[in-house]
Amino acid sequence: MRFETKAVHAGGKPDEATGAVSPPLHLSTTFERNATDGQPSHGYSYIRDHNPTQTRLESALAAIDSAEGALAFASGMAAASALFQALPSGSHVLLPDDGYYAVRILATDFFRRWGLTHDLISMDDPDRIRKAMRPNTRAIWCESPSNPLMRICDIAALASMAHEANAILIADGTFASPALQRPIELGADVVMHSTTKYLGGHSDVQGGSLAFRRPDELFEKAEHARTIIGGVASPFNSWLVLRGIRTLAPRMRLHCENARAIADFLAKHPRIEAVHYPGLTSHPGHQIAARQMSDFGGMMSIRVKGGAAEALAVL
Ligand SMILES: Cc1ncc(COP(=O)(O)O)c(C=O)c1O
Repeated sequence: MRFETKAVHAGGKPDEATGAVSPPLHLSTTFERNATDGQPSHGYSYIRDHNPTQTRLESALAAIDSAEGALAFASGMAAASALFQALPSGSHVLLPDDGYYAVRILATDFFRRWGLTHDLISMDDPDRIRKAMRPNTRAIWCESPSNPLMRICDIAALASMAHEANAILIADGTFASPALQRPIELGADVVMHSTTKYLGGHSDVQGGSLAFRRPDELFEKAEHARTIIGGVASPFNSWLVLRGIRTLAPRMRLHCENARAIADFLAKHPRIEAVHYPGLTSHPGHQIAARQMSDFGGMMSIRVKGGAAEALAVL
């Protein structure tokens, strides 16, 4: 099945109770139990543990990322936090020196109390990564393309490096989305998305996701952290992200087309110093991006000649 087909159908089984072909939105916080043994009669008991709309979203998230299991969260940061909290205490983690800023804040402000240590490293420099690995390095976290400098790392190479050291590779795939890049197919163990972005797609929902190569012990621990600490997506937000996923593939085609036109225009502009867009052949990560992404995405950053005043004038 092609990605487009998966994205349209995943999590979209007709509702068994009514035959509705569009996914229903279940807002119930609590679920019926049967009278004989008091067990949940349909597998659900309480909204924070699991709920039917979230289950649908999770089956879609797993399908589009070629994963065996997925978890939906209230935000990308809730997803990242649950995953870090699921790592064994005493773990050392390598984080990218260019990546979403709040992940760095999570590390500096919270890792110590979760028993974790970290180092920031350039994820496009294999020698430095190898040197930064410690005996207790349990995870490499990468982000490609990165926010905000659009750096590209070689996901397959990082996965091999992590596995050789008995660690896992976690990839923040937010900027590419599963329509353009599926890190699990490249060897990553876990993919994280801020579904607030392309998966939601309409700037009206906040969410996050973790997709796991297989639903192993780490999956169970992250799920436990979500259930108990409570970074759970609401049913309505789950429903909106599920709806967004249906149109992900055609939206991404258009984003790529628009970004390419803008990047080409800006790259030739006399008042622009640099365009960071992996689709430009001048981008240092262009060849790796061409290999691991089916297109170069809708995000870019630019450096305007001059200073802050000139940049603000462009804005
Ligand atoms: C690359 C990346 N990762 C993670 C996040 C965090 O996601 P959220 O804002 O949904 O918590 C963002 C948000 O902008 C992001 O751009």
